[in-house]
Amino acid sequence: MARLGLLLLLLLALPPHSSSVSWPDTAQGTMANLILTALEKATLFLEDRLPTINLDGVVGFQVLEVQLRGVQEKWAHKPLLQPLSMRAGQMANTLSALLQKSIFYLKQSDPMYLREFQPSIQPGFWKLPNDWTRTNASLVYPWLEPLDSFSEESSDVCLVQLLGTGTDSSQPCRLSNFCRTLMTKAGCSGYSLSHQLLFFLWARMQGCTEGLFLQSQHYMDIFCANMMELNHRAEAIGYAYPTQDLFMENIMFCGMAGFSDFYKLRWLEAILSWQNPQVGCFGRPDTKGEPSEVPHQQGILRRVRRREKLFADGCSCHNTATAVAALGGFLYILAEYHPDNGDAHPEYDPNHGDPYSSSQSPARNYQDGAAGPDVQRTGRPLSVS
Ligand SMILES: *[C@@H]1O[C@H](CO)[C@@H](O)[C@H](O)[C@H]1NC(C)=O
Repeated sequence: MARLGLLLLLLLALPPHSSSVSWPDTAQGTMANLILTALEKATLFLEDRLPTINLDGVVGFQVLEVQLRGVQEKWAHKPLLQPLSMRAGQMANTLSALLQKSIFYLKQSDPMYLREFQPSIQPGFWKLPNDWTRTNASLVYPWLEPLDSFSEESSDVCLVQLLGTGTDSSQPCRLSNFCRTLMTKAGCSGYSLSHQLLFFLWARMQGCTEGLFLQSQHYMDIFCANMMELNHRAEAIGYAYPTQDLFMENIMFCGMAGFSDFYKLRWLEAILSWQNPQVGCFGRPDTKGEPSEVPHQQGILRRVRRREKLFADGCSCHNTATAVAALGGFLYILAEYHPDNGDAHPEYDPNHGDPYSSSQSPARNYQDGAAGPDVQRTGRPLSVS
């Protein structure tokens, strides 16, 4: 971690490069290279354990494939970036083949869950954000419901209604009053909150625009503002292991929802440091000799997920999935904001680059950067605020 931190600091301290330096040799090129290398390792992990990867794991890699295609396309027309574009494209091809194969295994291990959630691992379901926005700290709840106020089972029921994959053969985008109430309930945190956001995100992917979904953006604004708040808290407690999973899930979901301020350089650095360098997975740190099953218990910021799968070496399907989709998002926003136009350099402001300090109000810490999407478009690529 320390070495990587130093490297990123060095990258940030580099003077803006002159136009004679080719883009891949710059800080952004190095960053893209770091992310691609981490993702290639994670893809090897997927390949290695394919028969035992669960559906949640597959979803993360499906999102990654979409992000890599986006990156490949953006870089394909830039001569200097073609090697990076090809690398992204090759990884996307590998993933595409692996993900097709994974369906065969999921049919055997969890056929019902597969039938209900198959759309989410289908090519074409996930779409990259068209527009970018930022979270608005004034939408953070002044109070919270008791932790994780509803169960994963309830949120699964509502997601299945949304997808129209239940046994009652109802149409997609229909929802019961129960789900309408649950998915718009204020004051939720943890996985309840991230699943409320996921619900509206999938509604967008599914093309639901009527009724409640007229207000999709409104709810996403609220949920991601609160997910940002939780991520600041996770950072403030040093990303203690059980919170890493939710932290990365929040970046994965709100990033795909178009909230660019989740892509903070220091968060990228943290995530990269959590990868198991030998195996390529993400999961529990130092697990020597510990049992491979996670006890079902309540945590402070996290409830253990019902379908979480933890390998004996500490690798977690869900952690790896959220990590690769978060990292894929970092790569995509890097590609989106860095055409090789000669001034591609993250503005490093030492006053804002300091790690978030717990003595500060989380709201204040990121309110400064709460600019509209237009400002952001010409502004910093990776938020260092
Ligand atoms: C943030 O939300 C508040 C309350 O809805 C609103 O008044 C304000 O204009 C928003 N700020 C931005 C920058 O969008």
